[in-house]
Amino acid sequence: MYRTHTCGELTISNAGQEITLAGWVQTVRKFGAITFIDLRDRYGITQLLFGEELNTELDSQPLGREFVLQATGKVAERTNKNPNMATGDIEILVSSFRVLNKSALPPFTIQDETDGGDDLRMKYRFLDLRRNPVRRNLELRYAVNRSARNYLHENSFMDIETPFLIKSTPEGARDFVVPSRMNPGQFYALPQSPQTFKQLLMVSGYDRYYQIVKCFRDEDLRADRQPEFTQIDCEMAFVEQEDILNMFEGLVKRIFKDVKDIDYTDAVERMTWETAMWTYGNDKPDIRFGMKIGNLKFPLHTFPGRQAHLQTMIGAGESGFAVFDNAETVLAIAVPGCSEYTRKQIDELTEWVKRPQIGMQGMVYIKCNTDGTYKSSVDKFFTEDKLKAIADAADAQAGDLVLILAGKEERTRKATSELRLELGKRLGLRREDEFRLLWVLDFPLFEYAEEDNRWVARHHPFTSPKPDQIATMIDNDPLIANADKYLEHPYANIKANAYDMVLNGNEIGGGSIRIYQRELQEKMFAALGMSQEEALHKFGFLLGAFEFGAPPHGGIAFGFDRLCAILGGSETIRDFIAFPKNNSGRDVMLDAPSSIDDKQFEELQIKLNLK
Ligand code: AMO
Repeated sequence: MYRTHTCGELTISNAGQEITLAGWVQTVRKFGAITFIDLRDRYGITQLLFGEELNTELDSQPLGREFVLQATGKVAERTNKNPNMATGDIEILVSSFRVLNKSALPPFTIQDETDGGDDLRMKYRFLDLRRNPVRRNLELRYAVNRSARNYLHENSFMDIETPFLIKSTPEGARDFVVPSRMNPGQFYALPQSPQTFKQLLMVSGYDRYYQIVKCFRDEDLRADRQPEFTQIDCEMAFVEQEDILNMFEGLVKRIFKDVKDIDYTDAVERMTWETAMWTYGNDKPDIRFGMKIGNLKFPLHTFPGRQAHLQTMIGAGESGFAVFDNAETVLAIAVPGCSEYTRKQIDELTEWVKRPQIGMQGMVYIKCNTDGTYKSSVDKFFTEDKLKAIADAADAQAGDLVLILAGKEERTRKATSELRLELGKRLGLRREDEFRLLWVLDFPLFEYAEEDNRWVARHHPFTSPKPDQIATMIDNDPLIANADKYLEHPYANIKANAYDMVLNGNEIGGGSIRIYQRELQEKMFAALGMSQEEALHKFGFLLGAFEFGAPPHGGIAFGFDRLCAILGGSETIRDFIAFPKNNSGRDVMLDAPSSIDDKQFEELQIKLNLK
């Protein structure tokens, strides 16, 4: 037997017992004739005391950091207790020991605060994984996994595996492809998600499916994106949107409870996509804080129904201030309690919005002084009344600093949203220990792709339109006659039966009620510019299945890595994946991707033609 206990469990109640531990040497400290060794395993650290009688033996085989050691001895109460350690009351009076394996000197210290840089730790990920913070992240991941499985199991969901070597599933990214040796010249695609399979399972009658499953997407990477990532993928039959929202806010609340001991009793807020864009400038708003956007000027067509009720506020096109007059969009936010920002602070923020990532030309401010007066960088173009009207549009209070950005609609909205998030962070309004869930609903079904002058599915092509808009989809020709006026096409206003779940400004999940009739699905493919042959070639299996009694169904998939990262207080999902890729999609430990043998090329009948 290698061990009787782990390095994290012995306490004063074990005093006097003869035990054996096995683990890694964390530190060796020599004090004259005695030696202390901290022995570490996944469960903790226990102090070993080697007395004088073991000196010769220790000298003949010196122990270094990360050596694998087995030690037997008696548990004894320590004179010098360490209240910060679970095993801090005891130590082991070692009677015999055995080196199970030696270790080379680790390239960085295996401690909570390590001296190893990112690249080095990725290269030696198996050592990085020995560190407490990384281990805790993986433990959290496992806790989320268990909690999700329990909840789904209790609700009659069945875990069913689906294949990885498949035909393309469109989720908006590029496919990773795998050549087939047995079918030369042909390729499998790795699934971007199990989307079509879970829908087929509904047709097969497995009315509640789930899978914690790898998905593969060849897309540009960011902190919250990996080329292979994991989803909690779910699908249900005989459901409407409301059923899905209830079931899955239940899932997330359960995870909060099991993993963080948080009772999330509030109803999950709901917001339409249009309201999210209008008030927060993006479709995954962080609602932990206010600072809502004041829409001072915007193109009439963007939010049909809003009308330009504020267009005149700044005297659109006639204020004399060219920046506003010429801009397509003017947006403002009120930064709470910052009216006394100095010139220097405002200049720094202006530089911040001018950075290429944000891309604005400049920034205008209005200080809403506590005495009720207004001071602005554009004083000479606006009367005090107008400044007040602008500040009011941003819901500013006395003492606030109003910041205004102007330019092309999309960029300005994005920049204002980024500025809001940045200031929220700087002012401490985005607290890591606060969790706010939000459903974003009623997304547009289509997006316009300028390059090809056609519609693309905003979610994916299996998403159904709102029931009362199905006729609009069927009755209208998808052709966009006038690219400049695509927003006037009836398709531009069709809303999807789709929903995203947002947590603290991150999209943690998304799904939809699906199309389940062949005719509508064919119409959808046609709307996306697919010929009948192409639709049959790519999705004939699904269209065929819809002919055999497909039930109404819908589902959702959660970004498992993202959910873990946010619960763990980080936005970098890499920290929550045992063996992640770096930002160039490389596994630096394996050195993958890499070239393959000539023989493999030959077998696959593939010749490289690198440009
Ligand atoms: P979607 O594409 O929205 O939907 O993906 C679901 C969730 O997966 C996470 N996610 C990612 N996480 C890490 N790295 C990535 N590259 C990455 N891409 C997406 C996000 C996202 O919300 N089949 C549909 C779901 C459905 O309709 O049921 C789908 O995959 O958190």
